[in-house]
Amino acid sequence: MFPQNFLFGGAIAANQCEGAYLEDGKGLSVDDFLTGGTTSSRKDGFSFTLDENTYYPRHIAIDHYHRFREDIALFAEMGFRCLRISIAWSRIFPNGDDEVPNEAGLKHYDEVIAEIRKYGMEPVVTISHFEMPVALVEKYNGWTDRRMIAVFRRYTETLFARYGKQVKYWIVFNEINANVNDIKGHHEYAIHTGIHFRPEDNRAQLVYQACHHMFTACADTVRLGHEMMPDAMIGGMVAFIPRYPRTCDPDDVLKTFEDNRKKGVLFLDVMSKGKYPYYFEKELERLGVHIERSEEDLKLIAENTIDFVSFSYYMTLTDSAHPEKYDKSDGNVFSGLRNPYLKYSKFGWSVDPVGLRYSLNWLYDRYDKPLFIVENGYGDYDTLENDTVIDDERIQYLNDHLKETEKAIQDGVDLIGYCTWGPIDLVSAGTGDMEKRYGFIYVDLDNSGKGTLQRYRKKSFDWYKEVIATNGGSLR
Ligand code: BG6
Repeated sequence: MFPQNFLFGGAIAANQCEGAYLEDGKGLSVDDFLTGGTTSSRKDGFSFTLDENTYYPRHIAIDHYHRFREDIALFAEMGFRCLRISIAWSRIFPNGDDEVPNEAGLKHYDEVIAEIRKYGMEPVVTISHFEMPVALVEKYNGWTDRRMIAVFRRYTETLFARYGKQVKYWIVFNEINANVNDIKGHHEYAIHTGIHFRPEDNRAQLVYQACHHMFTACADTVRLGHEMMPDAMIGGMVAFIPRYPRTCDPDDVLKTFEDNRKKGVLFLDVMSKGKYPYYFEKELERLGVHIERSEEDLKLIAENTIDFVSFSYYMTLTDSAHPEKYDKSDGNVFSGLRNPYLKYSKFGWSVDPVGLRYSLNWLYDRYDKPLFIVENGYGDYDTLENDTVIDDERIQYLNDHLKETEKAIQDGVDLIGYCTWGPIDLVSAGTGDMEKRYGFIYVDLDNSGKGTLQRYRKKSFDWYKEVIATNGGSLR
């Protein structure tokens, strides 16, 4: 059984569900240019122009902007105790750095948060979830410019002043470790940091400088948040994708250890321990990267660490010093090698419930701070028949992950809550399509934008409702 006050719920993100991409004064953000089937890091040759003959799935998405009352009522029907949402930066500051916020955008989230509260749910708000206003890319080259720290402060200050009394849980950046993916990539443009790379750029230099500005902004947000909202809990978040050594060859073990640091814990080390770890300083030396970091930045980072550690968990990978010898595996944000002991989803992601218990113990051991699972879920093709979807594989996946979560709590891990990803079907971040679905609620919409947008309860809807009502007692 889970603790009585355990926050069972779900997580959605503005850019993947709201639509209404130009409504009520919203500015354009990076995700408004994503077409179906693209990856979140974009293709080469990218430019910020919209083509009238192209379908952009996020322009309408699932129209949550207009249907949020209906959707939140469905979440309440399942008994959600929390709902993680994100605020679209470009609704509040259409150009990112405007002098004055857009009142219509603020009003919209007044209504959303009031609706969540109406049902007694705890809102968990992500401040930035992959949707930077485009103007900030054009004017500052994204987070490479330190002026972005002040730009972000104006945004967070506005949110805290407006919603601080209603919102206790805040997450600063979604999956900040995704930044590191753009070092090796060949994409011209990075959605997470808003960097437009030129061929001659030292990509590691730009990415790690951007990371430093984001770490500083995160600490600044914690400082400001605590000042303005003494009871608030402000968290950092990563995509946590543990890598196991593919074999017990010490070379594989060492390579795995290093990759886990570089691609995952480094980011939590800085935000949670308040300093750059020794191994990262050496990595910078090896790469010939020099980050501009002032004494004040480092002090800010040291004095304003996050209150809780949150993460998404979908899968695990394996790693080797000799990757050419093994089969590759796709993954969320990062890819790696396949694990012969695990089953795989139709989208090629491993299914590893025990890896979640392992992650929870690892992170609690390392940071000694409350944890929050803010995304976990099973992306699958769903078929609507007789107004429902029989999604037994999803139920099995969630059941098994919750059982392991329960065991981690029994291990002594301090866990605030658990959110499934996409409790209502929404646009996939990785594929840009609708056909990869996670929801308890089916949305009638296909990859080309056809459909009524009507909502239907899947089999998992009643299953999750019972899990919450019995506080996990119904898990098998
Ligand atoms: C996380 C993101 O990486 O994974 C979400 O925070 C995303 O935005 C989710 O949707 C699932 O990934 P995908 O690619 O299946 O949508």
